Amino acid sequence: MLDAFTGMERTNRCGEIGMDLLGKTVTLMGWVHRRRDLGGLIFVDLRDVCGIVQILIPPENSLAFAKAEKVRNEYVIAVTGKVCARDPQNINPDTPTGGFEILADQLYLLNDTPPLPIQINAAALAEEDLRLTYRYLDLRRNYLQDIIIKRYHIVRTIREYLDRHDFLEIETPILMKSTPEGARDYLVPSRIYPGKFFALPQSPQMFKQLLMISGFDRYYQIARCFRDEDLRADRQPEFTQLDLELSFVTQEQIFALLEGLFHHVFATVLNIELPMPFPRLTYQEAMDRYGCDKPDIRFALELTDLTEVLQDSGFQVFRQALDSGGVIKCLCVSQGGQLSRKQQDELVELARHNGAKGVAFAKVGDGGLETGISKYIPEATAQTIIRQVNAQSGDLIIFAADRWSMVCKVLSALRNHLARMLDLIPEDSYNFVWIYDFPLFAYDDERQRWEPAHHMFTMPNVDHIPWLDDPDRLGDIHGQLYDLVCNGMELSSGSIRCHRYDIQRKIFEVLGFEEEDLHRRFGFFLDALKYGTPPHGGIAPGIDRIVMIMTKAESIRDVIAFPKTLKATDLMTRAPSEVSPEQWKELHLTLTV
Ligand code: AMO
Repeated sequence: MLDAFTGMERTNRCGEIGMDLLGKTVTLMGWVHRRRDLGGLIFVDLRDVCGIVQILIPPENSLAFAKAEKVRNEYVIAVTGKVCARDPQNINPDTPTGGFEILADQLYLLNDTPPLPIQINAAALAEEDLRLTYRYLDLRRNYLQDIIIKRYHIVRTIREYLDRHDFLEIETPILMKSTPEGARDYLVPSRIYPGKFFALPQSPQMFKQLLMISGFDRYYQIARCFRDEDLRADRQPEFTQLDLELSFVTQEQIFALLEGLFHHVFATVLNIELPMPFPRLTYQEAMDRYGCDKPDIRFALELTDLTEVLQDSGFQVFRQALDSGGVIKCLCVSQGGQLSRKQQDELVELARHNGAKGVAFAKVGDGGLETGISKYIPEATAQTIIRQVNAQSGDLIIFAADRWSMVCKVLSALRNHLARMLDLIPEDSYNFVWIYDFPLFAYDDERQRWEPAHHMFTMPNVDHIPWLDDPDRLGDIHGQLYDLVCNGMELSSGSIRCHRYDIQRKIFEVLGFEEEDLHRRFGFFLDALKYGTPPHGGIAPGIDRIVMIMTKAESIRDVIAFPKTLKATDLMTRAPSEVSPEQWKELHLTLTV
């Protein structure tokens, strides 16, 4: 029944059919997207990576017609025929090829298929696990193909820009020694050296710095990174960074380079002119105003600190927070007085989910605060609050009182939730913002020690370097660290690195590395720093997240051709999977559970 694939050559792709081909004979090949049998006539929508075009098979062409009667969705066929204009009443304005059809002369059945486990042309999607199991079929969907193609264009445009700015693309090892980026490593046991392991790179951080020490000046790589960490909608265990590093560079120069890069990519791929320069917020400003260091600044809804105003409050919840050194902050929701009971409950639930005991509400009326906790707030204080948050009658004030970090976390979560609930987020808006001047260290209360707030290879602000010797000031040290955030998503992180051996050693000391451990893990790197390291810095935008933003994909899985599930498995290949007893033996491994 199937035809051999000989004696025919594709002349065009389906999506290319247009005015210039009118009247010409073409040979197209692709998949049967849909077949319609209208009694006398058969129509086939033929699909390839470029688009879909309608094929008309008239009954007079009995050979082709007989074959067309047999085709089913997703059969692979070739069609030779003449490009015709459709009658005006049959024009489909929704598809680029909708004004044309191919009058089939010959039809070849190149391959068939049993009924598919997932339908390519169905309006309702099959559940995601099934689609991931048959990812190669799911990838036939226009939605996913468009994203994967756009991803290619984005990466190509990035390469073009960096080539123009004298960057060299250099590959770094995949089998390597662990680079600490804060997640767990994926390890690869060595067959030749029993008990020894390679680590897959969490990022090429140390290698890119070593390339600067080698004198390459401007490096980039579209680098695959591996992190064994809890997954979320914007995280995969295997993802891709645009990894960059430059010598003799300042933070300002990196900001300008990246702004130019994003401007070029958005203009080329989406035809969107990003306003430049991007706004900037210090870490402290971002936390004060938005409660988080990746604020979505597409909408206002900023936090206000009421700790001072409510200093003498007798309200028990506030009192407890204040007495234990906490803070009180609020959000003022414009016309939030109209929120239903259910919506308010949703907010309380979200606050609890984020670890708070709750949040308190007060409506703003014509004369002052009404309802909720208003009875616990003296009139004069209420008026000060209303003035401070610039509240109007009908607004709702939401209070959180707790430790500073908890208040920030909760109000930031509520802020994002409220923006969606109240439809405050403008469509088609790309709001980039630099967050900079981060603390270098964060104190881990549980482990009772200092951890790098980002990573440990960052140069402290020059004035803060002496504080590395003062245990009381470690928390005050800020580093030349920066993140680029877009629409509330962290797109890139980077820093000016510590190019001085003596300072880098001190940073390791603060982080509590034992000499032997330090030597074992970073000895080669510390050694390298001694041999004439140039001042250098870099950044690493996440490619997957850029594609998510630029294609409005909700899930990171939609922008990766073969992604992992939220449980870090590949449902299609069934990886990870067991290996043979021989392989265990070869790798000198035994299972202990
Ligand atoms: P960082 O760890 O912040 O920095 O990562 C940089 C960017 O990579 C992306 N990213 C991820 N994307 C998808 N899934 C993940 N699991 C994931 N983790 C990170 C984000 C993030 O902003 N070496 C430093 C960079 C530097 O300092 O130059 C680093 O890796 O978009």
